[in-house]
Amino acid sequence: MNYFNELAADFDREPKRIELASEVGDAMIENLRFSPGCQVMDYGAGTGLLTFKLQPHAGTITAVDSSEQMLDVIAAKIARVQVHNVQTLKWNVESDALLPASFDIIVGSMVLHHIENTQGAMDRFAMMLKDGGQIAFADLDAEEGDFHSDATAAAHRGFDRDEFAAHLRMAGFRNVRFSTASVVRKPTSSGVEKEYPVFLAAAEK
Ligand SMILES: C[S@@+](CC[C@H](N)C(=O)[O-])C[C@H]1O[C@@H](n2cnc3c(N)ncnc32)[C@H](O)[C@@H]1O
Repeated sequence: MNYFNELAADFDREPKRIELASEVGDAMIENLRFSPGCQVMDYGAGTGLLTFKLQPHAGTITAVDSSEQMLDVIAAKIARVQVHNVQTLKWNVESDALLPASFDIIVGSMVLHHIENTQGAMDRFAMMLKDGGQIAFADLDAEEGDFHSDATAAAHRGFDRDEFAAHLRMAGFRNVRFSTASVVRKPTSSGVEKEYPVFLAAAEK
């Protein structure tokens, strides 16, 4: 069973996740130009914590994830709060056919460290953005591999900002900029509290 399928039902029980998504959302709202009609993709949307934070600023927002169970949680939230501009899509940048270049903004939080081929993902996101479209991903700064208690859960130990910027530029993005969106504080397996900064990288096609 998919690691995230198992996590889905209890994902929102961890207050740190809610706080992180909220702070990342604030950084995105500050760094991107949303407009009433804009078509947004939230890639690796999970239970939609970031999706619903950005939803009031978007024309439509498509919550994309490879985990059916995560998308089921979002679908239940859509039904409960009766929003009409959020939709879900099961899709994987690593393996599924490209979607049309219909998005004005593509965002994602804490998903890229689960994706092996960062350059391939950035290239594909660029192809699904309209000309002039914007991209913003939040993820861990380079860490020592102890952020996840299960070391096999992640493909990357965070990212070096310069290397990540190079991936964006190689994919054709310009005006690449970084800020620190949040800092996650949590104990490692040895019980020592550690800080894990989370960057926001934003750029334009
Ligand atoms: C740590 S969660 C983050 C969820 C959400 N973005 C948030 O900040 O609350 C990572 C999410 O990425 C999804 N994911 C992992 N690999 C993926 C892939 N290759 N394609 C799409 N989604 C993926 C997982 O299913 C999970 O929902």
